[in-house]
Amino acid sequence: MNIPNHQLRCLDCSSRNEPSVSDLSCAECGGLFVVDYLDAPDGVQPRLPMDDLLSANSLGEGDTPLVLLEKTGSELGLETLWAKLEFMTPTGSFKDRGSAILTTMGRDLGVREFVEDSSGNAGASLSAYAAAAGLKAHVFAPASAASGKLDQIQVFGASLHKIEGPRQAATDAAEKFVKERGLIYMSHNLSPYFSEGMKAVSYELEDVIGDGIDHVVLPVGNGSLLIGMVRGYRELLEAGVVSKIPKFHGVQAHAVRPVVAELNNEKWSQDDVQPTNASGIAVSVPPRLAEMVEVIRSTAGTGVTVPEESFTEWQSRLASSEGVFAEMTSAGAFAGLVKLIESGVIERGSNVCIPITGSGLKEPLAR
Ligand SMILES: Cc1ncc(COP(=O)(O)O)c(C=O)c1O
Ligand SMILES: [Zn+2]
Repeated sequence: MNIPNHQLRCLDCSSRNEPSVSDLSCAECGGLFVVDYLDAPDGVQPRLPMDDLLSANSLGEGDTPLVLLEKTGSELGLETLWAKLEFMTPTGSFKDRGSAILTTMGRDLGVREFVEDSSGNAGASLSAYAAAAGLKAHVFAPASAASGKLDQIQVFGASLHKIEGPRQAATDAAEKFVKERGLIYMSHNLSPYFSEGMKAVSYELEDVIGDGIDHVVLPVGNGSLLIGMVRGYRELLEAGVVSKIPKFHGVQAHAVRPVVAELNNEKWSQDDVQPTNASGIAVSVPPRLAEMVEVIRSTAGTGVTVPEESFTEWQSRLASSEGVFAEMTSAGAFAGLVKLIESGVIERGSNVCIPITGSGLKEPLAR
């Protein structure tokens, strides 16, 4: 390896660590890491942690379509409503952007076999990118995950470990397996490399719309898209390419709402979890909770919860009125947008972007 272009910095005590996919937390205090670059942003392309972009483990992710949802936008009284079609990627979700970076770093740092846990989409994505990079993947996912996602994990040649119980049970089982087998836990939620891949979403938005987005509304579970997009905008701001960062609003199911509860100083714990169709954001104990809250507050954004019926309602509405077949988790962002408009947080006449994070094709219709 050449001299690396970054170090890892502890979010809590600022201790530094050399680049690593296996050191997931600070040896001094247990805090999680963020990637700290040694050079300044140029605003032309996102700073990325690999030494050589040309040899990155890519399957053609990124550069997703940006479309105007004219009917929905005008029904909601918005100036523009943009949808960034993040499901138009090699494995059908935005996760491919993060998988490209994480597997490149893993491969370049000498990993041959790793363990991961996921609600489904990240596992499917990492399995594909592991195959491309020649890495062996063990993916722990809830047994209840959509069959389309579980099939993807298997067809890409990863070992699928189906775990009964809530999403957290898959994490616990993965951690136990790592200890027993002495394998590398390349968790996409703990490693700071995964969300670095999401910065490009902001660059692509800026490229087409410039400064013209007032609000981004997105589903949040572990926060990789949220954290990565805001980091992308911070780089663009630092490079003088944009003059403002849009307000970021995180949408969660009322059933599983740790981030929104924390933002609103509401007492909520994993004992309060209810069943939800929004499997991608059914994360009751997100390890980067404090970072997510900091990131949202830094943009003057908010958090909003949506009721269970809104996921299927908006899935059908988007499909039948716009021709966009979103995963239920992704469709819920539109219900969040409606609430934000009704409460006056998003003014009528605003310019809004919603990343549509996953494809409806992977899950059975829930009706
Ligand atoms: C379709 C979909 N949308 C949103 C998310 C939430 O992403 P994050 O955990 O990075 O906040 C996920 C995560 O699995 C997902 O699968
Ligand atoms: Zn620390």
